Amino acid sequence: MNHNQLLELLERHAGEFLSGEELSRRLSISRTAVWKQINKLREDGYEFEAVSRKGYRLLRVPDKLAVSEIQEKLTTVKFGREIKLLDTTETTQVEARMLAESGAQSGTLVIAEEQTGARGRQGRRWFSPARKGVWMSMVLRPSCPLSFAPQLTLLTAVAVCRAIRKVSDVEAGIKWPNDLLVAGRKICGILIESVGEDELIKYCIVGIGIDANLDESDVPDELKGIATSLKIESGLEIDRAALIGAVMNELEQLYEMYVTEGFAPIGHLWEALSVTLGRRIKVRTPQGEKSGLATALDPAGALTLMDDRGEMYTIFSGEVQL
Ligand code: BTN
Repeated sequence: MNHNQLLELLERHAGEFLSGEELSRRLSISRTAVWKQINKLREDGYEFEAVSRKGYRLLRVPDKLAVSEIQEKLTTVKFGREIKLLDTTETTQVEARMLAESGAQSGTLVIAEEQTGARGRQGRRWFSPARKGVWMSMVLRPSCPLSFAPQLTLLTAVAVCRAIRKVSDVEAGIKWPNDLLVAGRKICGILIESVGEDELIKYCIVGIGIDANLDESDVPDELKGIATSLKIESGLEIDRAALIGAVMNELEQLYEMYVTEGFAPIGHLWEALSVTLGRRIKVRTPQGEKSGLATALDPAGALTLMDDRGEMYTIFSGEVQL
């Protein structure tokens, strides 16, 4: 017996209690086996009410992603047309990289319901609990120099920000270079890892983590006050398949624009969504800490900062504190 038969039975009788005895009789398994299968289903996100002498009642089926549901939302030609959907993995970055190395086409997407060793920027970890978020990595094969990778990071932030605004009523803003924030708390992180060959990008792995359906109680203590989710902000459960579809649609559209028109129009869209420009900020850079007014995004995607003495600095990488 696999737990699908038990599930089918409980789903057919949704809303009703079925006793352990009846389940064991109808499925020809022991009551202990019924109990074990129920626990297994609970681990997979199913919720049951268990009442003594009445039995079990199915309350909630988990919100699981399905490739067909995502692809129904796509208006793209390439992005998201090949999807590898995993239940759990250490990090989708490595999965996507393996696909890229074996020749996967640009736009191939790896999605995981859960990541057990997800990576953030600057060697940090990324919390990725099962079925609560969008944890995905896309293979991208741009034909441009390695030095253009930061622009792709900004482009991705614009795409995700627009997708979030389309699918929910949450008005996320972009903190340079590519964190998405709502009221100062992070809702999405982007990690682009590029592999080069002769100064050119051979491929990039575009990693996107969106905190979609985390409740306050899911947020670990060390992230309280720092991270939020679309559900926390809007009070509504987000349709993750629709969100992934929207991200792919925006990403492909902006990428086409980038290829044909260059970075300038993307830069303008980024500026319009930025929560960094025009503010006094502190940036931790590899060369030390700088503070001042964030004045502009330069054509390469770097941040221009004016310190208190009016001196201008160009920041290529760093961690902004607002
Ligand atoms: C950041 O530090 O802000 C970047 C976080 C990036 C997280 C995503 S989730 C999908 C992909 N897999 C990973 O291990 N990381 C990225």
